[in-house]
Amino acid sequence: SQNKNITGGNMGATIKKIGIIGAGQMGSGIAHVCAIAGYDVLLHDASLERLENGIATINGNMARQVSSGKLEEKDHREAVARIRMAAKMEELAGVDLAIEAATEDETVKRKIYAQLCPILNPEALLATNTSSISITRLASTTDRPERFIGIHFMNPVPVMKLVELVRGIATENATFQTARTFVTSLDKTVTVAEDFPAFIVNRILLPMINEAIYTLYEGVGSVDAIDTAMRLGANHPMGPLQLADFIGLDTCLSIMQVLYEGLADSKYRPCPLLVKYVEAGWLGRKSGRGFYDYR
Ligand code: CAA
Repeated sequence: SQNKNITGGNMGATIKKIGIIGAGQMGSGIAHVCAIAGYDVLLHDASLERLENGIATINGNMARQVSSGKLEEKDHREAVARIRMAAKMEELAGVDLAIEAATEDETVKRKIYAQLCPILNPEALLATNTSSISITRLASTTDRPERFIGIHFMNPVPVMKLVELVRGIATENATFQTARTFVTSLDKTVTVAEDFPAFIVNRILLPMINEAIYTLYEGVGSVDAIDTAMRLGANHPMGPLQLADFIGLDTCLSIMQVLYEGLADSKYRPCPLLVKYVEAGWLGRKSGRGFYDYR
């Protein structure tokens, strides 16, 4: 596998080294695809345990790709060697692009930017993997709104072809071009969304999931009936309740809240059953229980 040093637009920026903040589902998936594409990756998380779990996830998912013939054993070894654990955020000082993939909570993201921006090279690009929060508003809290952009990957990152690119009002064209070239180099397809609540995929997907939860709440069908209906009746690879568990019910709820507040329309009202599950700590696959039991 070759090292892909990409040059973006008229800025002449070269992306070689990527810093990823957050080693959860999304962060580890992003690290996975960046390393396979030849980038050097520094993976950071505030918790060492999450960092170690993230690395273990990457290893496991790459091993899966090796056993199904999608990845050579040698490329697996080389890709893993390109990922370094950064226990301290300061270790991200030399990256060309930092991708924040922290939890879907604006306060958490703002805290990360406040700590990260003084560490980063002034020329470095800063991206967020937010699935719904305003890029313009997040950018405004940083020292580099013109070099800030939304790069929204889909879960599971190694499998899903799409990446949404979202410019904030201040994002420079050179930033956009560099980000587009970068995403394309990961063998992903870019779709461009304007900076409105939840962009394109989640604007459409989450109300469908929320409606499935209402369907359950109102007793129209059982969990199995609803998921079977959509898998076999609409050819979805997963039923909407299984998908909700997969995304994480806390993430589903926070996206619905962003839609509800941002678009001020009752059609986005989060289903009370979704709220109750999140209050119970039933967050889906990651917590062992959601609409299904994973224990
Ligand atoms: N890493 C690497 N490979 C993986 C993987 C991972 N995390 N997860 C699955 N795969 C691979 C499997 O190894 C398998 O590969 P082969 O075909 O080569 O054997 C392939 O993907 C299919 O997986 P499975 O056979 O295990 O199971 P499946 O056929 O049910 O597919 C799935 C799993 C790809 C997740 C499929 O169910 C699916 O596409 N589900 C819908 C996913 C979706 O909608 N994602 C978007 C969520 S929304 C989002 O992400 C936006 C947001 O902000 C909330």
